[in-house]
Amino acid sequence: MKIGVLGTGDVGSVLGKSFVVLGHEVKMGARSATNEKALAWAKATGSKASVGTFADAAAFGEIIVLATLGVAAESVLQSAGPETFRGKILIDTTNPLDFSGGVPPKLAIAGNDSGGERVQRMLPGAHVVKAFNTVGNALMFRPQLPGGPPDMFIAGNNEDAKQQVGAILTDFGWGVVDVGGIESSRYLEAMCMVWVLSAVRSGAWNQAFKLLR
Ligand SMILES: NC(=O)c1ccc[n+]([C@@H]2O[C@H](COP(=O)([O-])OP(=O)(O)OC[C@H]3O[C@@H](n4cnc5c(N)ncnc54)[C@H](OP(=O)(O)O)[C@@H]3O)[C@@H](O)[C@H]2O)c1
Repeated sequence: MKIGVLGTGDVGSVLGKSFVVLGHEVKMGARSATNEKALAWAKATGSKASVGTFADAAAFGEIIVLATLGVAAESVLQSAGPETFRGKILIDTTNPLDFSGGVPPKLAIAGNDSGGERVQRMLPGAHVVKAFNTVGNALMFRPQLPGGPPDMFIAGNNEDAKQQVGAILTDFGWGVVDVGGIESSRYLEAMCMVWVLSAVRSGAWNQAFKLLR
């Protein structure tokens, strides 16, 4: 499958490499097609990895991963061209974090709205699935923890899209917990804060959520 990854940070790099390890082709998109981090990532990742602008990566991907600074998501999608996403799955990994007051950050969007909902509103023709936002990048692929495989919590309006993202998560070594429509991003983005605050207090970042029944 062809995967477009929007973002050159740790999340874009880890997820992009993981898709390549699973046999997919990945184009990493950045503000510039000559972004140094993206070029270095492609060189290190091999022949199935390539680089382009946000628009190039969005056009390339049958599935697209949004992995940019959360508060920049709307401007990134605007520059990629909202029409490009029509009919495609967009995996939204972002959290709208505000670091203006230092660490730990606060949520820049909360209450009756969320980053995930804003992304879906901006791309009405896309099937947005919130995923990967409740764990650190170091554990995103095949997490090995003494308590067994953790759970990834997902939200989105399209059932078929969630099934497909669920299958990807299974390949990535995760259990999957579907918490409903894209409005549930409000709670998944708040869960990111629980993850961050717990890690800051304990100093242990090697943690992930699991729903025990
Ligand atoms: N880091 C984690 O472990 C983790 C875990 C779960 C979820 N998340 C979420 O995943 C997303 C990506 O996180 P990250 O740590 O990989 O990277 P990040 O530092 O949050 O974002 C880096 C990416 O955002 C782009 N960017 C920054 N400002 C921009 C702007 N004004 N306009 C357009 N693009 C801009 C950067 O482009 P340039 O390359 O041009 O600078 C780069 O591609 C974030 O929303 C984060 O909250 C992170």
